[in-house]
Amino acid sequence: MAIAQRLDGKWAAGCVQADLKRRVEELTALGVVPKLVMLVVEEDEVSLGHVRRKARFARAAGIAAEIRTFSAGGGPEALRSAIDHLNGDDAVDAVLVQLPLPPGWDEVEIVGRIRPDKDVDGLHPENLGQAAFGRPRIWPCTARGVGELLRRYDLPVRGKAACVVGRSALVGWPIAQWFMAHGATVVQCHRQTPSVAHWTRQADIVVSAAGVPGLIRADDIRPGAVVVDVGLTYAADGPRGDVDPSVAERAAWLTPVPGGVGPMTIAMVAQNTVDLCAMRRGG
Ligand SMILES: NC(=O)c1ccc[n+]([C@@H]2O[C@H](COP(=O)([O-])OP(=O)(O)OC[C@H]3O[C@@H](n4cnc5c(N)ncnc54)[C@H](OP(=O)(O)O)[C@@H]3O)[C@@H](O)[C@H]2O)c1
Repeated sequence: MAIAQRLDGKWAAGCVQADLKRRVEELTALGVVPKLVMLVVEEDEVSLGHVRRKARFARAAGIAAEIRTFSAGGGPEALRSAIDHLNGDDAVDAVLVQLPLPPGWDEVEIVGRIRPDKDVDGLHPENLGQAAFGRPRIWPCTARGVGELLRRYDLPVRGKAACVVGRSALVGWPIAQWFMAHGATVVQCHRQTPSVAHWTRQADIVVSAAGVPGLIRADDIRPGAVVVDVGLTYAADGPRGDVDPSVAERAAWLTPVPGGVGPMTIAMVAQNTVDLCAMRRGG
């Protein structure tokens, strides 16, 4: 029985980092050092871990990366004024607010406060709208990361049938938009889809971003499909994806969890920072 080949996000992210390092050296030679500032609520250990990994990756590529923490008890006002200040700081190219924010903080309003040309997560309504109109300034990091992972393995998207499970504004929706923009025919499933498997079985590429461990099983996949597991749920025995291990016996390509989409999302924060820097400051 053939076993799916591994779509190794750690390897692909390493390639991205090496390319970025060269690009940052070119910018630095012109006197431009790309700068990323990430804002995070300090009580959220998972979010803190995410921004620390993003900072480590970006710094290794030569980017100036900073983390600023805010207290959940202090309310959203300090975060708002930090965004306003960073928007006006010419040395700052990229601003990221790590989500989720504490209950009651208006994420849409807060993300929408970031200047669109510094919005490294690509989640500002203007940036999502630009992408919908076929003129993306920047793609959200997970969507771009999935695309970049397939590109590094020379797996085509154009003309393929893609099924995306999940439709959140942060993850599923941008991924579906990315595939559509790159020439795939896309079906998007969600909780109201009567039979998710009916659609995944017809797809050349299945991307699951539901956050439900074991949701996608071997029978739900067409033999030879490419399966990308975005899901990440922290179980007692470690992180779990949406895709059941049995899928490896049917798919041609499969991302591991961890080590698949996660490293690519982190890499795309650095990639987007450098792209926003080059767009705004030239080079
Ligand atoms: N690896 C990475 O870099 C990375 C980055 C970001 C997120 N993630 C992970 O990706 C997953 C999704 O994140 P999110 O922020 O989009 O979560 P979310 O806001 O909870 O959205 C989950 C989506 O999946 C759909 N869904 C849930 N259960 C389903 C089911 N049984 N069948 C079909 N659709 C179902 C939901 O449908 P409805 O809309 O109908 O509710 C919703 O659209 C999470 O596990 C998250 O940790 C990973």
